[in-house]
Amino acid sequence: MKGLVYRGPGKKALEDLPHPRIEAATDAIVKITKTTICGSDLHILKGDVPTVMPGTVLGHEGVGIIDEVGEGVQSFKKGDRVLISCISSCGKCDFCRRGMYSHCAHAGWMLGHTIHGTQAEYVRIPFAETSLHRIPEGMDEEALVMLSDILPTGYECGVLNGKVTPGCSVAIVGAGPVGLAALLTAQFYSPAEIIMIDLDDNRLDVAKTFGATKVVNSGNGNAVDAVKAITGGMGVDVAIEAVGIPATFVLCQDIVAAGGTIANVGVHGTKADIHLDRLWAHNITITTRLVDTVTTPMLMKTVQSKKLNPSQLITHRFKLADMMNAYDTFQRAASTNALKVIIES
Ligand SMILES: NC(=O)c1ccc[n+]([C@@H]2O[C@H](COP(=O)([O-])OP(=O)(O)OC[C@H]3O[C@@H](n4cnc5c(N)ncnc54)[C@H](O)[C@@H]3O)[C@@H](O)[C@H]2O)c1
Ligand SMILES: [Zn+2]
Ligand SMILES: [Zn+2]
Repeated sequence: MKGLVYRGPGKKALEDLPHPRIEAATDAIVKITKTTICGSDLHILKGDVPTVMPGTVLGHEGVGIIDEVGEGVQSFKKGDRVLISCISSCGKCDFCRRGMYSHCAHAGWMLGHTIHGTQAEYVRIPFAETSLHRIPEGMDEEALVMLSDILPTGYECGVLNGKVTPGCSVAIVGAGPVGLAALLTAQFYSPAEIIMIDLDDNRLDVAKTFGATKVVNSGNGNAVDAVKAITGGMGVDVAIEAVGIPATFVLCQDIVAAGGTIANVGVHGTKADIHLDRLWAHNITITTRLVDTVTTPMLMKTVQSKKLNPSQLITHRFKLADMMNAYDTFQRAASTNALKVIIES
């Protein structure tokens, strides 16, 4: 079978690989029908994630059809259509029992990280019973690819941790796929104001069509003043950080209102300052989270009932054979206007 293999920093290749095999009774083999590329795959390719060994197939998102199940798998059989969660979970350890699947003692983020991932014709899914979701009849499977990672990430780490409530004001720093996913799911709660902040005018234009009430290009350094002007000098109740650099984390501290929450979503590769000298009396909360994908079944229902339309995030489509081109398009998002690309087997 073909798969996209990480070959060390800056190197990747579409290669012929052996067909994955059942290794544990709880495994399933899934034939991938649609997958996508994540910003995290680009981080891996830059060499930012040293836990990924050269030779690993990348990808932690996708939908497919069950090809084979281990003898311990009872909920799925060959031919079932499934959504793959980016987080694998045993469902039984202390962390899983608390709904913190991302910290599962036996799994967690494995796909395209510590084991072969989904950017291939077939993938082995550990703990299949608790790491796959059955796709109901008639669902838009392309839209569901967005539920493997980015929608639960924006919702759990941004909206839920940020405690978005009716009538509140929200600022989302970073209008990439994850920030836009937070924008879409924040609207479940009818906030009064959702201010989207980015450097890329195209992404801000997209944000407007996704429901942002205001957009701010922070390139001129006036983002704090702009947010203060929009909020009558108060700042926002919820500041969601969806970039992952020190400057945007500090921006969140500058725009959060007294009593507000900073929900960090971004993956930070360097240390970032917390200005307690200014914030100690500000009654704020700062949260962090690795996506647990505990809300995926709920999000699936909102897609099924058309309350949520994640297919809006899809800008390009490719065949697996054209994977190198798909990466190139995704990597050059500023000029290609790519958000999420779908890759079909
Ligand atoms: N916590 C989790 O579990 C989890 C899961 C998935 C992704 N993430 C992280 O979420 C973050 C966002 O992911 P993404 O795929 O949307 O990334 P992305 O790179 O596509 O988007 C980031 C956006 O931030 C904007 N940006 C960059 N610098 C900026 C600045 N100084 N001010 C304002 N905007 C700026 C970019 O223009 C871009 O639109 C990443 O750090 C990613 O690693 C976290
Ligand atoms: Zn991802
Ligand atoms: Zn577990």
